[in-house]
Amino acid sequence: MRIFRNPRQLQSHIGKIKRAGKTVAFVPTMGALHEGHAALLRRARRSADILVLSIFVNPLQFGPAEDLDRYPRPFANDIALAKRERVDIVFAPGIADIYHGDRSTHVEESGLSRGLCGAARPGHFRGVTTVVAKLFNIVRPDSAFFGQKDYQQYKVIERMARDLDLPVKVVMVSTVREKDGLALSSRNAYLSAGERATALAISGALSQAVSDIKKGKTCAGVAGAMRERLQAAGIAQIDYAEIVNADTLKVPHKGDRRLVAAIAAWVGKTRLIDNMLITRE
Ligand code: PAF
Repeated sequence: MRIFRNPRQLQSHIGKIKRAGKTVAFVPTMGALHEGHAALLRRARRSADILVLSIFVNPLQFGPAEDLDRYPRPFANDIALAKRERVDIVFAPGIADIYHGDRSTHVEESGLSRGLCGAARPGHFRGVTTVVAKLFNIVRPDSAFFGQKDYQQYKVIERMARDLDLPVKVVMVSTVREKDGLALSSRNAYLSAGERATALAISGALSQAVSDIKKGKTCAGVAGAMRERLQAAGIAQIDYAEIVNADTLKVPHKGDRRLVAAIAAWVGKTRLIDNMLITRE
């Protein structure tokens, strides 16, 4: 396994790989890798000759009052997991390797990124699409893998790739959960034991929503019930608890079949997100 820090050196190495006719699968991450990332790496490993993992805590996607400084950075553990999952190349640049001090270009998706997390975290998706577009230009992957837990992020990146004719297949991989339903997230490391127990209300509310929608209950009623369940568990700050169309991420029309139940809520000082896809009969 080779570790690159410098984008130009990686670009030239990838150039050689591509000229040899090999395919490249890419898993972009911010590190603090867990079994959810391992599932992305396994899926990606099967799909190409060369597997590239990036580890970069992207400052552009954090708001001024967010957790950029305390975001976990257990680099040695991440490298061990990367080796275990047979990663060929780790790209681990520093901030100055990625961003010029006088940069003045951004990539912005202006539809799917507006609601849900986009409404709660202004500028977040612009930071995500800017860094992912840059990473795609550096790594030039044939396919790139994103977790369903960040469903809106996956949809936004898929749209960006389509709109900009980027020659990469954007693939979503299902959320990995603990046995009790908690979605794996690097931010779970912030939770105390009590907060972790409270956080279970999120996956609980989503599972209930899936079953209620399948029983024919209205989206508005089900969204209200999710909110009540979170509040009953002691979760007071809810950024959103919504049922939206899984493709447009907007309020669903009556006949829409593919929906997503999505929640972003604060458990103590930790913002958690989760979602479940629903196919309505
Ligand atoms: O999902 C993440 O870890 C990040 O948002 C990503 C896609 C690596 C961009 O920084």
